[in-house]
Amino acid sequence: MSAERAIRIVGNVVRRPAKPWTATVQSLLGHLHACGLPVPEPLGYDTTYEYVGLVEGDAGVDAWPHQVGLDGVRSAGQLLRRIHDATVDWRPPPAAEWSVPYGPGPVICHGDPQPANLAWRDGRAVGIFDWDAARPGDRKNDLAYALIWLAPFTADSDELKRRGFTAAPDRRARIAALLDGYGWSEPFDVVDAAVRRHQQAIDEVVRLGERGHQPHAGWVADGWPARWRAGLDAMRALGDEIEDDEPCS
Ligand SMILES: Nc1ncnc2c1ncn2[C@@H]1O[C@H](COP(=O)(O)OP(=O)(O)O)[C@@H](O)[C@H]1O
Ligand SMILES: [Mg+2]
Repeated sequence: MSAERAIRIVGNVVRRPAKPWTATVQSLLGHLHACGLPVPEPLGYDTTYEYVGLVEGDAGVDAWPHQVGLDGVRSAGQLLRRIHDATVDWRPPPAAEWSVPYGPGPVICHGDPQPANLAWRDGRAVGIFDWDAARPGDRKNDLAYALIWLAPFTADSDELKRRGFTAAPDRRARIAALLDGYGWSEPFDVVDAAVRRHQQAIDEVVRLGERGHQPHAGWVADGWPARWRAGLDAMRALGDEIEDDEPCS
């Protein structure tokens, strides 16, 4: 990890490397924070660093135990819904820049809504930070990403243990809890959307890495994108199992 990438927390202030899209993200955070949403307060930036407020709660590696239960998953869906809804009437500043190519869409997606980027308290998601991957887009795009992490779409037993699971996750129930928390009522081809979103995430890492951004350049140099791509088939196979499982009667 390059020293430049290092995120420093001093008191209630988080210092992060400034990026070409920092001005746009700080503007977005200003809107969401003013709406009373639990996102970092934007505190300004210069050419090297940006500064944002700390979001209270358990975050990073401390996040995992909170997302083991269905209530935690549901609460993540509720939080994502509140965030998306609050972006509908926000207009990006002129000459807005985002970290990744994006399609038109009715909301601003967080872009990386995984448990470690949420702040948690008592088994519920109470905040969301790490907005570098934000971009205009479709609600389903962020939901698919959240589902990859919260279903979760991995069967690796060490990884599941690391995330706090002591038994196999009930993925159908967890997917239903996230969509229920979000209030999603339309059809959703979850497996297909999750696999496509994972592919998109890999492509985004490669693109950012090629442009020299960290940590992506490091991941590319270490050969991670090829390994992630090789895992896509296993992800689809797991998805097929989830779809084939008969719901308990
Ligand atoms: N605004 C914030 N509020 C609370 N914790 C934060 C905040 N920003 C960063 N952190 C902490 O620092 C860690 C790394 O920051 P993050 O922005 O997620 O960067 P990255 O995922 O690139 O390492 C997080 O997992 C979290 O523990
Ligand atoms: Mg993060």
